[in-house]
Amino acid sequence: MLQGNWCVDAGGENCPCFLAEGGACLTCSRLAGGGCEDCLWSGVCVANEYEQNGRVIRLGRKTQYVAVKRKKCYDEQTAVLALDVGRGMAQRCSLPGSYVFLQADEKISWSQAPISVMRAEVQKGWIWVLIKGISVKTKALLKAEEGGKLLLRGPYQNGLFGGFALRQFGFASRREKTKEKPQVLILAKGAGLAPAVLVRDFLKERAHIRLLLDTAKLTDSLAKDWAGEKGRAGEEKEEAYEPVKLELAREREQICQLMRGEDWRFICIFASDYYLAYFGKSLLSQGRCGSLVLSNNFHLCCGEGICGACSIEDQKGQTRKMCKCQMDGETLLSQGLLHG
Ligand code: FES
Repeated sequence: MLQGNWCVDAGGENCPCFLAEGGACLTCSRLAGGGCEDCLWSGVCVANEYEQNGRVIRLGRKTQYVAVKRKKCYDEQTAVLALDVGRGMAQRCSLPGSYVFLQADEKISWSQAPISVMRAEVQKGWIWVLIKGISVKTKALLKAEEGGKLLLRGPYQNGLFGGFALRQFGFASRREKTKEKPQVLILAKGAGLAPAVLVRDFLKERAHIRLLLDTAKLTDSLAKDWAGEKGRAGEEKEEAYEPVKLELAREREQICQLMRGEDWRFICIFASDYYLAYFGKSLLSQGRCGSLVLSNNFHLCCGEGICGACSIEDQKGQTRKMCKCQMDGETLLSQGLLHG
C-alpha cells in the first residue's frame, strides 16, 4: 500500500470488493499481486478476509428506488430534494464526505450522477441533496417531483480528502466529551454548500465552526435555508455564515491571513480545484496544512475503482483511483495531484 493512500472502504462493510477479486486491491499488496513485505495497512487483513470468505467478495452497493418526499426549487437550475432512503442508510449518509449516485432515467444505466449528501435526517430516514442542473444527467434529476422516484446507489464515502480524520475527530470527541471545543473553518463556494452543511451538522456539538460562503452561484434563499443567517466576521453564531467573494483578490488575501492566523483544528475548503490550489499553496508555504480537508472534485463514474474515470498518475507513475483513494489534503497538494 502507498503511504498517504488507502482505500476508503478498506475493512468496512463493502470490503473485500470487486478489486480484490480482480487482483487490483488498493490496500492489500497480496491481493494486488505482491507480498506482505510492503503492506502498511494496520486494519483487518483484507487477504485473510477474502480467503476465509471462500474467495467471495462482500455484496456491493445495490441500485434501488427511493421516493422523493420533498422538492424545493430555488431557481431554474437549482433544487433541493429530500429522499426516503431508510434509517440505516440515512445514518451512514450522515458522515462527512458522503455521496450517492442518483439516476432519473431507469432505462439508461450510465446516467447516474454522483451527488453530495447535504443533510441526513436519521429519525425520518431521509437525506437531502442539492441538485445543480449542469448537464444532461443533473438536468434530468431536476425534473424529479414530490411523490416520484429516483434510482439511488450508495452511499459512498470518499467525497472529501482528509474526511477520514474529520470523522475520527468527531467520534473521539463524542466518546471523550472534551470540554474545550476546537475551532474549525469551512470555506465553501457554489455546490460546496452541500458538504459544508453535512460537516457542520456532524461537528456541531464538538467544535466552534466558522462558515465562509461564496454565494455567487447560489440564491439568497438557498443560502438562508441551509447555511442560516448572514453573520458578521467573527460572530460566534452556530447557524450563520459569513458571505465572501472569492473572485476578489483582496478578499482572497484576507481569507489566507485568517487561515494562517488562527489555531484551526481543521480547515475545510469545498470549492473548485482552482481555489483548492490557491488557498492550499498559501497554507503549504506556511507549513499550516496539517488538518486540511478538501472536496474531491475528480470525475466519478462507477465509484468502485473499476471504470478508471477518476484515475490519475502520481509522481512515481503509479495509478491512483481517486474515487476510492483516501488521503489527507496536504498529501494531495504537496504531490501535485489536483487538476487546478
Ligand atoms: S469512478 Fe470509476 S474508477 Fe473511480
